[in-house]
Amino acid sequence: MKEAIERTRLDHFVSVETLENEEVTALIKRAGELKWGAAPQYAGIKYAVNLFFESSTRTHKSFEMAENKLGLKVIDFEPSTSSLTKGESLYDTVLTMAAIGVDVAVIRHGSESFYTDLINSPTISCSIINGGDGAGQHPSQCLLDLMTIYEEFGSFEGLKVAIVGDLTHSRVARSNMQMLQRLGAEIYFSGPPEWYNPSFDQYGQYRPLDELVKMVDVMMLLRVQHERHETYGNFSTASYLEKYGLTADRERNMLGHAIIMHPAPVNHDVELQGTLMECPRSRIVTQMQNGVYARMAILEAVLAH
Ligand code: CP
Repeated sequence: MKEAIERTRLDHFVSVETLENEEVTALIKRAGELKWGAAPQYAGIKYAVNLFFESSTRTHKSFEMAENKLGLKVIDFEPSTSSLTKGESLYDTVLTMAAIGVDVAVIRHGSESFYTDLINSPTISCSIINGGDGAGQHPSQCLLDLMTIYEEFGSFEGLKVAIVGDLTHSRVARSNMQMLQRLGAEIYFSGPPEWYNPSFDQYGQYRPLDELVKMVDVMMLLRVQHERHETYGNFSTASYLEKYGLTADRERNMLGHAIIMHPAPVNHDVELQGTLMECPRSRIVTQMQNGVYARMAILEAVLAH
């Protein structure tokens, strides 16, 4: 346990691109230890604030739960009643939080790489955790997804993982394809061709969904992100499910040991048919549970630096 703690001292946690494979593996293992009852390890009284400028249920509340389980003091912050309404910038808000004694700020913001100015500031002394930056990265979701896969299979090497759906707009997909490839998984993609970007070719292959359901160990579905689409074109929920969603027929064709994942929130009968979210091979609820422990491990790592 001591070894895992020493390896995961981080100043900030903003992108999987800045993490070494060994740091990620140590965080996954530490999250598992915390899940099974290990005592949190950091020194002294520490303060956290959660600054969420985009909607969130899971990320916001599981960070809050993680902070409570670690014994942190959580400073209340509501964007709509803060000086942001008077035009204060994100930078000045975080500068203020650090000045009043906050040790760690968890931030979700619609601007990609919003954290760059904050982590390079000579004055902001608190750690920054990225809770999602536009269509950029979602590193804490990536860590909880990796934890869930590791719990199931014990390794990433040679594992076949399909990432399916709204790839272009998904920060979850971006973080996961980068990290899973680095850890040795084989990545496959499917979904609407107009939501596929050729830059994903460096991480894996695009294949028809009906082919992938019969061969992958992990079927990772993505939410259709209506809020990031400028036009819906001729999108219809029924035709999406039929062409690119996991129907009951497709689920029956999956390998016996294969699991279903989805970062949630789920658009029911769009990405997943009926009650598949709670079927025996679904790990979607486990992902939500693991989110608390993955986020405890992240908080512990930034508070240990
Ligand atoms: N998976 C995820 O980020 O969910 P929320 O938007 O509810 O935080």
